[in-house]
Amino acid sequence: MWRERAREVAEKVVRPNAAKYDKLQEYPWDIKDAIAKAGLMGVWISKEYGGQGGGVLDLCICVEELSRACGGVGVLYAVNALGTFPVMVGGTEEQKHRWLTPIAKGEKLISFGLSEKFAGSDAASLRCNARREGDYFVLNGEKKWNTNGGAADIYTVFCVTDGDSKSRRISALMVEKGMPGFRIGKVEDKMGIRCVPVVEIHFDDCRVPAKNVLGESAGMGFKHAMATLDKARPGVAAQAVGLAQGALEYAQVYAGHREQFGAPISSFQMIQAMLADMATKVEAARQLVHVAARAVDTGAPNVSKLSAMCKLFATDVAMEVTTNAVQIFGGYGYMRDYPVEKLFRDAKVTEIYEGTSEIQRIVIARGLGRDSHQ
Ligand code: CAA
Repeated sequence: MWRERAREVAEKVVRPNAAKYDKLQEYPWDIKDAIAKAGLMGVWISKEYGGQGGGVLDLCICVEELSRACGGVGVLYAVNALGTFPVMVGGTEEQKHRWLTPIAKGEKLISFGLSEKFAGSDAASLRCNARREGDYFVLNGEKKWNTNGGAADIYTVFCVTDGDSKSRRISALMVEKGMPGFRIGKVEDKMGIRCVPVVEIHFDDCRVPAKNVLGESAGMGFKHAMATLDKARPGVAAQAVGLAQGALEYAQVYAGHREQFGAPISSFQMIQAMLADMATKVEAARQLVHVAARAVDTGAPNVSKLSAMCKLFATDVAMEVTTNAVQIFGGYGYMRDYPVEKLFRDAKVTEIYEGTSEIQRIVIARGLGRDSHQ
């Protein structure tokens, strides 16, 4: 059901406008409204908080379908799950009602603020800090690579609340746009996913109510961030599967029409082998995403490993398949007149954000270590 609904939005609203928003590098509010109207915004949120009561598998299916038409729209949607997962993982009942419900209803958007200029892969080294002053935390510092930044109303911000503690150094604060001291800085000019803003955020003595600390208990932020990434990485992997599937379909159609040496290029074995390998890898990636997403939804042990595996595998597949799609289109593939170069540009970031492929290998290797101790 979710696949059908998401595909309808993707075909009617996303695909016809994908090139336009890529060129403009503007947030597509009409597309976001269509996604919300189709009820897709709350797919992963339980019904008691106004959502559709689905899980990460349902989310992944929607992300795949939207990304098949536009990788930017795929992440524009998925990043709301990334922002809400810390609340689902660590929030109190009151916090879940307060922040999940408006997201589930499509009334508000959310962004996830973990990375900083000097803290990317080494997320624990972040410096943005908040000191307690009575009923408030006073937040100072800056965040980098905030996807959805500026468009979003709510920001899940990871910051240092106890610099002396080793394991309880970091907390997650829920910050709302418009709080005094909150400022959107540089808006990035990106290679791909150009319809969704990625920004720097500055906090200058930003006063955040102490009740906005997740779990209403400081110091759990890093664990919340890591548990969040375990739940969210299959979504990036699904974005990669959608991009690869979209590129495969374009390449297949083009190869059927394009004639060289007096025959469609799809009749040449080298092209057939390319398409066969592309299709096989896309299907393998999809199945791994579904296995990982089900593991997250059922609370399986050692889910970090599977989640990292599906992201590592699917994002490499997306890069390979979109590259080969450009190759099959030849000179036309390199031009902006045809859609495959955009899919190729959109695909690259999936190997970088929510943990680079190198970080995924570290997580997998650590997971293997845990398996061997069981
Ligand atoms: N779940 C819960 N807790 C976890 C955990 C998990 N999956 N993984 C680690 N922890 C806990 C550990 O148990 C440990 O707890 P104690 O201090 O109590 O012992 C603590 O967290 C620290 O763990 P590590 O020592 O393993 O941490 P580390 O510093 O070695 O880092 C890492 C591990 C995997 C490299 C991590 O830093 C990481 O994932 N880095 C990549 C960051 C990342 O993915 N950033 C993406 C930004 S978001 C983004 O990209 C958004 C976007 O634009 C769309």
